[in-house]
Amino acid sequence: MAKKSSAPTKTAQKSAPPSGKAKLADLTHVQVEGSAELSYNGKKIALPVMHGTAGQPALDIRPLLPQFGMMTYDPGFGSTANCRSAITFIDGDKGILRHRGYEIADLAERGDFMEVCYLLLHGELPTPIEKAEFEQMIIYHTMLHEQVYPMMEGYRRDAHPMAVMVGIVGGLSAFYHDSLDIADPEQRMLASHRLIAKMPTIAAMSHKYSIGQPYVYPQNHLRYAENFLQMTFSVPAEPYIVNPVLARALDRILILHADHEQNASTSTVRLAGSSGANTYACIAAGIATLWGPLHGGANEAVLQMLAEIGPKKNIPNVIKRAKDKNDDYRLMGFGHRVYKNYDPRAQVMKKTCEEVLKELGINDPMLETAMELERIALSDDYFVEKKLYPNVDFYSGIILRAMGFPTKMFTMLFAVARTAGWIAQWKEMIEDSEQRIGRPRQIYVGETSRKYVPLNQRGAGKLRAVR
Ligand code: SDX
Repeated sequence: MAKKSSAPTKTAQKSAPPSGKAKLADLTHVQVEGSAELSYNGKKIALPVMHGTAGQPALDIRPLLPQFGMMTYDPGFGSTANCRSAITFIDGDKGILRHRGYEIADLAERGDFMEVCYLLLHGELPTPIEKAEFEQMIIYHTMLHEQVYPMMEGYRRDAHPMAVMVGIVGGLSAFYHDSLDIADPEQRMLASHRLIAKMPTIAAMSHKYSIGQPYVYPQNHLRYAENFLQMTFSVPAEPYIVNPVLARALDRILILHADHEQNASTSTVRLAGSSGANTYACIAAGIATLWGPLHGGANEAVLQMLAEIGPKKNIPNVIKRAKDKNDDYRLMGFGHRVYKNYDPRAQVMKKTCEEVLKELGINDPMLETAMELERIALSDDYFVEKKLYPNVDFYSGIILRAMGFPTKMFTMLFAVARTAGWIAQWKEMIEDSEQRIGRPRQIYVGETSRKYVPLNQRGAGKLRAVR
């Protein structure tokens, strides 16, 4: 039985490589072939070129500072790989997204969220027995410690759901002390299962609290998406029948949001994890990052944008504003750091959107506006030249609204799904013997050395405008 401590246990550290990490798996598919020479001020260095199994090669710049006395500068990490990973591959130019080699469209159309969680975590699609065992394990952990519910009462009822989720998920580390030792693989897996299982329960709890309805407990005879729907929409006063079309659509939305390589929130989880923080704290950090409107908050922002646009006749003005360099207005749900082609998730999302609205008999004018906005934008030179296409967030909000989720819950749903990816990436980071605590450098542009000036010699009382 592992020691109950949050720091890596002594035994785990003894058997771990010098870095103190438990070396459980090594990502060895990196071949070093050739080098790139750099010369500056009479000094030369040959930097090895690293090749993965797919995607662009990378310069190994680790020798640069110690041997060449120089750093690199890359705000936003647009050209910087901060890890080796075997989980997700994106080819932004071709609009390709694969999880462990499987195309996202195949997984979304033919798989389900539980098997994608297993695939992300373990690297292979589960056998029927593995899948049944995994689903049973997740179902077993869907309930929350009863003292989590009073934590909810501390929030205002109009708190944003992401404010609730950040707090509650981080707070789980105060309840589950038997899964805080990140050097113990069993405790890591226990925390991982708990987080994947409890996110829908937390999301539903936050929704019920915000509308003054009683909390609904998970039902173990229901599958993941069905359970999520019943916890969110059922009331004790009447029976709730899960609509299978909505359950299937929600399951597919969860798949489409499960993982996406080294995006901002995943990179946050990896950085938090590199310090040895416990799993719950790392996922809370990811939730905080996902909340931003440029990241996971975009799905909520798309609906607000579509509502502001109103009738289709207003679209040309919106396009004009998005193109105006002096206006920081952006088409939410458009553009992507990596995709310079149509986001493959957006294509599946658009198809699912049409299916759900048809099933529900909803003729949502917002869908019309969204499709017209897409049509006009994709034929406009500005968007074509900048390769700005609809991303995963462009259609998701329309479906979620049709299913009855309040707009404020959209990003929380994204967090529920992305927990699988965050956990898989965090696990891979912990098990990668090359990973060390993240500590980027900087180009210092401040004051150089200057003498201290005593208070009574600092100028005749005038107030300076401080930056
Ligand atoms: C997600 O990283 C991931 O994988 C994220 C994600 C995931 O699954 O984890 O895919 C989820 O976050 C999807 C993106 C959701 N965000 C939005 O939809 C918000 C709107 N889009 C953007 O703000 C923007 O496109 C980003 C943030 C997504 C990407 O920004 P980049 O790569 O830093 O690009 P940029 O801001 O440097 O823009 C490049 C140019 C700029 O023009 P110039 O300065 O070169 O003249 O394109 C313009 C931008 O002004 N531009 C847009 C635009 N997005 C970029 N112009 C109008 N509308 C837009 N949406």
